[in-house]
Amino acid sequence: MATRSALINVMEKAADKAARSLKRDFGELENLQVSRKGPADFVSAADLKAEKTIKEELSKARPGYGFIMEESGEQKASDGSGRRWIVDPLDGTTNFLHGLPHFAISIALEERGEIIAGLVYDPIKNDLFHAERGAGAYQNGRRLRVSARNRLADCLIATGAPFLGHGDRATFLGEIDVIMENTSGVRRWGSAALDLAYVAAGRFEAFWERGLSSWDVAAGVILVREAGGYVSEMNGKSFNLDSPSILASNNNTHSDLMKLLRKPLSNQKAQ
Ligand code: IPD
Ligand code: CA
Ligand code: CA
Repeated sequence: MATRSALINVMEKAADKAARSLKRDFGELENLQVSRKGPADFVSAADLKAEKTIKEELSKARPGYGFIMEESGEQKASDGSGRRWIVDPLDGTTNFLHGLPHFAISIALEERGEIIAGLVYDPIKNDLFHAERGAGAYQNGRRLRVSARNRLADCLIATGAPFLGHGDRATFLGEIDVIMENTSGVRRWGSAALDLAYVAAGRFEAFWERGLSSWDVAAGVILVREAGGYVSEMNGKSFNLDSPSILASNNNTHSDLMKLLRKPLSNQKAQ
């Protein structure tokens, strides 16, 4: 069992406190499913509460650091450290809303544009993933390594799909078509943070999605890198937190997947 650094302990404490309230609210949802107003307002309140808890805990431990948070936006660092927390208090909101036990809290720390630590916590399965630059990636204290598979035919690939007014369905349908044709299968589980953590854990060989925000992926990206994987934009350009797309893989499959994912776009252009 690896010992965690002071930094990871701070992140874990904040995630743990928010997780307790998310878990309570997730349990309550069952009673709300039947009410006419529906549980959507309740879930957004749960989300906001979790974010507030995380912000309070992180600010107490590291007072000058900045924030970028899904619900409350950006706050610059005030201590000259150039460090900021990147937080999604509830990744997998739609799953949560529908009573599906697959969602996570995602907390990353960025220093002058570089992600230096990340934590993804799934409170229902009690899976805590964490990574620090140069120190490896871990799941509940156990060192993680990406999958060694290299034949696409053996690979399981995760993705996120456009929904209700978001994203480009035609492009996505082309992408999923080529990936379905060439791999063991595709999963759309509804939490980008966990999709990336699962690539780090060797459960998925890769993950791709377009149109994500920094808080969806910041922690997951360092998990994948520290587990020996590779992260880029879908076209191979180097990844940053404003990138319009992400392809994270076990490294072995990266260039093959990039080639496949390029096909639907070039077909569109040729039409
Ligand atoms: C969403 C999840 C999902 C992805 C969406 C994200 P949210 O985050 O990560 O897997 O496909 O694009 O917005 O809204 O549940 O925090
Ligand atoms: Ca999210
Ligand atoms: Ca969210």
